[in-house]
Amino acid sequence: MSPDRNLALEMVRATEAAAMAAGRWMGRGDKNGVDGAAVNAMRFMLNTVEMDGVIVIGEGEKDEAPMLFNGEKLGRGEEPKVDIAVDPIDGTRLTAYGLPNAVSVVAFAERGTMYNPQHIFYMDKIATGPYAAHAINIEASPTDNIRAVARALRKSVEDVTVVVLDRPRHEELIKEIRSIHARIRLIPDGDVAGALSTCKPNSGIDLLMGVGGSPEAIITACAIKCIGGNMQCKLWPRNDEDREKCKEKGMDVNKVLHLNDLVKSENVFFAATGVTDGDWLRGVRYMGDGIETSSLVMRAKSGTLRYINAVHNVQKLDEISSIKYGAHQNDAYFL
Ligand code: FBP
Repeated sequence: MSPDRNLALEMVRATEAAAMAAGRWMGRGDKNGVDGAAVNAMRFMLNTVEMDGVIVIGEGEKDEAPMLFNGEKLGRGEEPKVDIAVDPIDGTRLTAYGLPNAVSVVAFAERGTMYNPQHIFYMDKIATGPYAAHAINIEASPTDNIRAVARALRKSVEDVTVVVLDRPRHEELIKEIRSIHARIRLIPDGDVAGALSTCKPNSGIDLLMGVGGSPEAIITACAIKCIGGNMQCKLWPRNDEDREKCKEKGMDVNKVLHLNDLVKSENVFFAATGVTDGDWLRGVRYMGDGIETSSLVMRAKSGTLRYINAVHNVQKLDEISSIKYGAHQNDAYFL
């Protein structure tokens, strides 16, 4: 059988474009500027891909803000039919303040195979890389999970490092991790990059725990399906209204969502490009006549993981593309 098309090699052009556009806004303190630039560049590039794509995991329902909205159709309208999960920038605040680990990410899977969290914005998550994949259980306590991961990795609990979003809702979790003397990497934002770090050999991060965005959970699950770690989640309603809606819609808030519930298909594609410097990917470098990007491209079916370091020729791109890649004088660039 000859290998079929690897869509991730086309997707990476979209994450590169989004990262190059958003990276121009680094440190300006303007989250909307970062997001708007990335959204427009990503939409433009994804629309050039030969596919019949629909956004399942986007940035909410369509409104006036620049966004890739749930239900939006992308691509040229031909086969294959795919579900799309986008996060043009995971870490808009990180980019706006020039902090590490902001990435642009997109994932595709066969149509109808991505879990749709609907109105639930948050999920409780646990994720780890391939070597401790069998050891995690979201229904067990943080202590039990850390001990199990320590055993799987043949290290002591004190050597396990857990990445946790720095949020008041994690006060108890942090207390418990500290009580058993495991190490914590508190991150201000960006749990996609945090979870991916658990899958990178020698990254120094073993486990991700805590509550983060639902869209980010699905995107992370797609990436982990490609790399071969494990992730489990549970819906995390914020209030009674959320819980009521779950009841109406028949969504079970107690159900453990395993990797195969989060994304059913084995035919999953994932691409990420660094926006600011991170654990896995370098941020965008602007060099006057060229722009350097660093990306990760993966496919679950083959298990191939590619690092793509690209040098983009600004002058030539500006001649052939309606996205303007060169340095610009005003903030209307990319809008
Ligand atoms: P955005 O960059 O898309 O705003 O997401 C950043 C992020 O930190 C995610 O990585 C994380 O899943 C989510 O926000 C957590 O949400 P909150 O900031 O509301 O706790």
